[in-house]
Amino acid sequence: MITAQIDLGLVLNPASAPRTAAPAGPFTADGFASAATHIAAMPSYAPTPLHDLSALAAQCDVGAVLYKDEGERFGLGSFKPLGAPYAAANALAEKLAPHHPAKSHAELLAGIVRGSYAADLANLTLVSATDGNHGRALSWAAQQFGAKAHIFAHDGMSDGRREAITALGATLTICPGGYDDSVRKAFAYGAQTGSPVIQDTAAGDYRAVPEAITYGYGTIASEVVGALHAPPTHAIVQAGVGGVASAICAAFWHHYGADRPRFIVLEPVTAACVAASLAAGCPVTVPGDTQTAMAGLACGTVSDLAWEVLHTGADAALIVPDRLAFEGMRALATPHGNDPALVGGECAGGAVGALLALSKRPDLRAALGLDAQARVFLLGTEGATDASLYEEIVGRAPESVMSAAA
Ligand SMILES: Cc1ncc(COP(=O)(O)O)c(C=O)c1O
Repeated sequence: MITAQIDLGLVLNPASAPRTAAPAGPFTADGFASAATHIAAMPSYAPTPLHDLSALAAQCDVGAVLYKDEGERFGLGSFKPLGAPYAAANALAEKLAPHHPAKSHAELLAGIVRGSYAADLANLTLVSATDGNHGRALSWAAQQFGAKAHIFAHDGMSDGRREAITALGATLTICPGGYDDSVRKAFAYGAQTGSPVIQDTAAGDYRAVPEAITYGYGTIASEVVGALHAPPTHAIVQAGVGGVASAICAAFWHHYGADRPRFIVLEPVTAACVAASLAAGCPVTVPGDTQTAMAGLACGTVSDLAWEVLHTGADAALIVPDRLAFEGMRALATPHGNDPALVGGECAGGAVGALLALSKRPDLRAALGLDAQARVFLLGTEGATDASLYEEIVGRAPESVMSAAA
């Protein structure tokens, strides 16, 4: 481990797979393709933009910065509606199967994502715990498909994120304690009512739902591959429980093989569970309070499924403080040169702030092979998912940043 001089940490993965190795983990190229096809059939689907930020690249002394802006995904502010809705549609298709014996799972799935089974689903409830974005995505899925949603959240979740969930018609139950307590409540409620629980962490034999969520997130990689002529050399992707990082890592690995980018997981200082696990060679839960301004990353334990990919698929983990997330948000909002002004929330800002900080650390750049030719993929996982927090940090409302960009 190379420790931070001030506040940027890097863990190199001693078990990273050779470039020629076959993809690790249970995910298949067919599974990613099938998820991308079903998601693309959803009525409001559109690929999110991949911005080539040349002025930021020059500032960071790399060849290219390719920024995928998930803030615009389905109008919901983050990449999350790729995961929970796809997993929910799969779970609902299983519920409907006994009532439609002539239909295959794929036919039911295709009908559900188009909203054609709303009448059959009206009395079914989808259940989940959330830090914000996942619950919002599941509430939206329930609304799209014609089902109900019951979301459990801890009492530290911001008002803006609570409102985003209830505005979609979901029932929101606030539980004392942290995120893990709300997960326990959601599973207990699901068991009591027989409702499908759509959670992104795999543990024990609870795998089918997080597996479907990961396949859904892989759509991001399909869009990137379709938009680029050459693979990126590096990918920096945030990890909470590791779902989206493992999805992008596995999907790039399937597509690019030996030419896949060096894969760098990004985590906050308070919840660097993937970094700790890579260093230890096995999953490690980080102790203490995981709170961070990068709310979606406040997870102390990596998902079993994500670990199956990342334990050899990740080349390194970067550990960043909240301060860098704020710097990254401001850098996106006030760009140099001809780069567009972009609205990135805390988790998205973390990736930009980390790249800016890396440009001042030749030791870490050398360790990552990050040079002036590097083509760096950054995942802008969220827009202003909480507008008032965004304004406090950036000093301008998201609309004002967007109107400056127009
Ligand atoms: C905006 C944002 N970025 C990144 C993540 C991390 O995703 P995962 O938990 O799949 O690692 C989350 C999770 O909630 C999130 O909301």
